Formats: sequence, structure tokens, C-alpha cells
Amino acid sequence: MTSNRPSRPIYLDYQATTPCDPRVVDRMMPYFSEIFGNPHSADHRHGWDAEAAVDAARGQVAALIGAKPREIVFTSGATESNNLAIKGAARHRRATEGRTRVVTVASEHKCVLESAARLEREGFDVTYLPVRPDGLIDLAALEAALDDKVAVLSVMAVNNEIGVIQPLEEIGRLARAAGAWFHSDCAQAFGKIPLDVDALSIDLMSISGHKIYGPKGIGALYIRARNPKVALEPLMDGGGQERGLRSGTLPTPLCVGLGAAAEIAANEMTAEGERLRAMRDDLWDRLRRDLPQVTLNGDADRRIPGNLNLTVPGLESAELLAALDGLSVSAGSACSSGAQAASHVLQALGHDPAKVAAGLRIGLGRFTTRADIDAAHEMLIAAVSGR
Ligand SMILES: Cc1ncc(COP(=O)(O)O)c(C=O)c1O
Repeated sequence: MTSNRPSRPIYLDYQATTPCDPRVVDRMMPYFSEIFGNPHSADHRHGWDAEAAVDAARGQVAALIGAKPREIVFTSGATESNNLAIKGAARHRRATEGRTRVVTVASEHKCVLESAARLEREGFDVTYLPVRPDGLIDLAALEAALDDKVAVLSVMAVNNEIGVIQPLEEIGRLARAAGAWFHSDCAQAFGKIPLDVDALSIDLMSISGHKIYGPKGIGALYIRARNPKVALEPLMDGGGQERGLRSGTLPTPLCVGLGAAAEIAANEMTAEGERLRAMRDDLWDRLRRDLPQVTLNGDADRRIPGNLNLTVPGLESAELLAALDGLSVSAGSACSSGAQAASHVLQALGHDPAKVAAGLRIGLGRFTTRADIDAAHEMLIAAVSGR
């Protein structure tokens, strides 16, 4: 009997992280040892060359979201960007305008929820909006939660566990009407779906390098310069780099890598989205046919092309993962500590504990092949039926 099972493990966890694209690595290489100057050294050629590379990367990131290069600040990743955006905006607006409220959503990434929790301990009034069973927020509930005391509204574009895409345009419009600055964690959306900061009324956007085939340890924060002009209280004190918002020497090779990854995504996003959607839908159709008890978590249509989040009733994901040696998929989110806590996202959908414990996230990406999908299908069927 022939088997599709390969000798190397198959990676289907692209929402946790992505491999660095070899084209990105090639672009980064000269900036480790040849063009190694400090991009903040203003007195000599070594510094200027590094600065030019950082500025080019800033332009590549900005171009993908319709922003201006000077509206992009480099950070270490989306965790830092989310912290800087939410804490920085809330603290600034409380001090300057007396706005003391923060509104966010129960299914946000932990770094958003924990930033909000810290602000709560500092005396801010934080509202955590629920989500509907399909994972999307209720716009009427959002509208009711917004008033002229809200400093910042934080709603992610794409959920990292269930892949659903929030209605950003409507959310941005409601935030604008209330004068709340709209922050969106776009770690899972940037480079995957079209984003335009003006069309979506986004004032602050968090970006991560390692979710888009760039290096780990780099990210960016978009900060709107006009209409409204967004100002933040920085998290770090130091040399005043990045217009005083993020002190510390920029890692030139990582900035170049993020810029290259953004440029590649800009060129390939549409075709790649179609390719992933076809493979993802095919896998879902086959799994549904062979395992009729399996259900999908989160809206089926308003979803990024590379994501599936499934529940096999009665089968805990930990048990399923143990049987899936050779297939890297995950239970819930791997973005936290690695400790297996119950998924707060599946809980937010209103699922009972058994269904929460049975969630399985499958993430397809740039290097996923049809053969990988065939093998994954076979392995999933075997794992579920062979228990
Ligand atoms: C939605 C979302 N926000 C934030 C993060 C954190 O990003 P980073 O690893 O760049 O800090 C992740 C992933 O880890 C994510 O999926």
C-alpha cells in the first residue's frame, strides 16, 4: 500500500510563525558584516549607508498599508507594538485630554489583553467587548460602548486562532465618530489581506515580521501623523531613536528583512491568497466528508485563506496532537508561553469546556504544497479513527 506520509514533519502552523523566505535572508545578509554601521551614526558613510537601508525598509512597510514612511516606527515585534500603541495612547490622552477609557475585545491576543489589564490597574476603565459565536464583534454593541471618554479602541484585524477578519471599515468609522483612536493588531493580517490605513480609519497598526516570512525579533507600529495626529507616551527612555518613541539602536538586518518581506507580500498576496484558499477549502471538504462530526470554529467566509480551526467532538486536542506525530498543527494559540491553557478565543465564542479543549488550529502558508495537504488529510483521518 502506498502512503502519502513523508519522512519529514509537515508544518501546518503558519499562524504561530513562518519560515524566513530565502529571498528575505539573501537581502539581509550584507547588513550583518559588510554594511554594519549604526543607522543612527550621522557623521560618516558607514552610518549613512545603514540609515539608507533602514529608510528603504520603512518605505516598503508603509507602502503595503497606504502610509507614509515617517509614520512607521520599528519595534521588536507585534507584542511591543501593541504595548506601545495601547499604553502609549491611553497614557498620553489621559494626561492631555482626560480620556480615561479603553475599549477592546475578549478574543484579542494576550499582549493586548494584558496591556489593557495593566491600564486597568493604573486606574483606566477598560471595556472588553464580547464576540458573537462566529468570532466577529457586534457593531451595535461597539457603538454603545464608545463615548468621548474613550482614549483608544483596540480591535485586531485577523484573529490568530480562528482566522476571522473583523469588519475594520465599520469599526474605524465608529471609532472616528467618537474621537477614539483606532488601534488594530494586524500581526495576522499585514501581508495577507489588503489593508489601507485611510480607507479603514486606522490610527495605530501593529505589524510583526515573523508572521510574513520575515525574521523574528522585528515588527513595526504605524502611527497616524495627521487627521488625527496621534501622539504616544513612549515605553522606553534612551537615545530618542524613532522620533523619541522607541529608543535603542535599530537592528539594520532585521529592518531590511521586514521591508523585503513586505515587498514580496505586496507582489504575491493576491495569487498566494487564491492558492491557499483552494488548498484550505479542499482540505476542509475532505475532512468534512470523511469525519462528518467535525465542526469549524469561527466564520467560514470572513476568514483568511490559510486558516482552519476545527473541533473533533469528544476528542481533546492534546490527545489528537499526541497521535499526530509528524504533523505540526496546534491546539489553540502557540503565541503565549507554550503552556497549554484553555483557549480564551474559543471560550469567547461561547463554546462549552469540552469543545474548547477540542480545538485544533491548522495554518497553511507559502511553502505548503498539495502533497502536504494530502498527507495531512491522511494523518488526521488516521489519528481520529485510530484512537
Ligand atoms: C494577533 C497577534 N498579535 C500579536 C502577536 C505577537 O507578535 P510577536 O511575536 O511579533 O510579538 C501574535 C503572534 O505571536 C499574534 O498572532
